[in-house]
Amino acid sequence: MPLPTLRDQRIAIIGGSSGIGYAVAECSLAEGAQVVIGSSSADNVEAAVARLGPGAAGSAVDVRDEASVTGFFERTGQIDHLVFTAGDWGPHLAPNPDTKLSPSTAAEALKVRVFGPLLAIKHAQARLSANGSVTLTGGLLAHRPRKGAPLSTALGGTLEHLARGLAADLAPIRVNAVCPGLILTEHVVSQWPPEMIKGITAQLPLPRAGEPAEVAQAYLYLMRAGYTTGQVIIVDGGAMLV
Ligand SMILES: NC(=O)c1ccc[n+]([C@@H]2O[C@H](COP(=O)([O-])OP(=O)(O)OC[C@H]3O[C@@H](n4cnc5c(N)ncnc54)[C@H](OP(=O)(O)O)[C@@H]3O)[C@@H](O)[C@H]2O)c1
Repeated sequence: MPLPTLRDQRIAIIGGSSGIGYAVAECSLAEGAQVVIGSSSADNVEAAVARLGPGAAGSAVDVRDEASVTGFFERTGQIDHLVFTAGDWGPHLAPNPDTKLSPSTAAEALKVRVFGPLLAIKHAQARLSANGSVTLTGGLLAHRPRKGAPLSTALGGTLEHLARGLAADLAPIRVNAVCPGLILTEHVVSQWPPEMIKGITAQLPLPRAGEPAEVAQAYLYLMRAGYTTGQVIIVDGGAMLV
């Protein structure tokens, strides 16, 4: 059997214009893959494609809008892998001790992070290689709840179980998830005070936040790993141990 590689594989990354998704695109390109990124702002996509350079393409897609998702996959054509890292940061998900629970905030929170992957998979499925894969994105709050963020805990858990259910349902297409701890993406760096980041990470076995390229390695592994499905890889600096 030839050694698994992403060389010449075609990878669609929804959420690829920044943060974790951008790092997955960058690392995949470094391995010789072709990437097609998507996110809701055409300007963000255009800027990211230019930064990524040769091998990268992309177009706007708003995963809250089914017609937009249909159009995106018509443009991507045949793909080997789908990576979903899109996430919004509305007030419904802010780490705020005053968060109020209501069905309407919960419904808002579901749109991008839960219904988004469902719509993406619905429209990508026919275009995915039979030995291809889907990788979803959860989050450590699924396992380490914090005051003020109950919806993030529920969404992270939902994503992990969605990956398990879809792995059984879509086989032989493989479906897995990555569960990141705190990762220094543009959003986190710009919105979270350094003392807050330090406070969350100081007690970890690896006492710092992760870099986007470090968590991207889990996505690359899951795309290459032809005998792995229904799994969740936690990349958290050891936060699950403490
Ligand atoms: N960073 C962390 O510490 C961390 C930890 C645990 C879990 N996560 C999860 O990992 C995912 C990515 O996080 P990140 O830090 O990389 O965030 P990010 O840098 O803000 O990236 C989010 C991406 O999603 C896109 N997006 C937002 N709304 C969209 C929509 N309606 N349709 C399509 N694309 C949309 C954004 O681009 P546009 O603005 O152009 O749409 C952007 O490309 C999120 O689900 C987050 O919950 C992150």
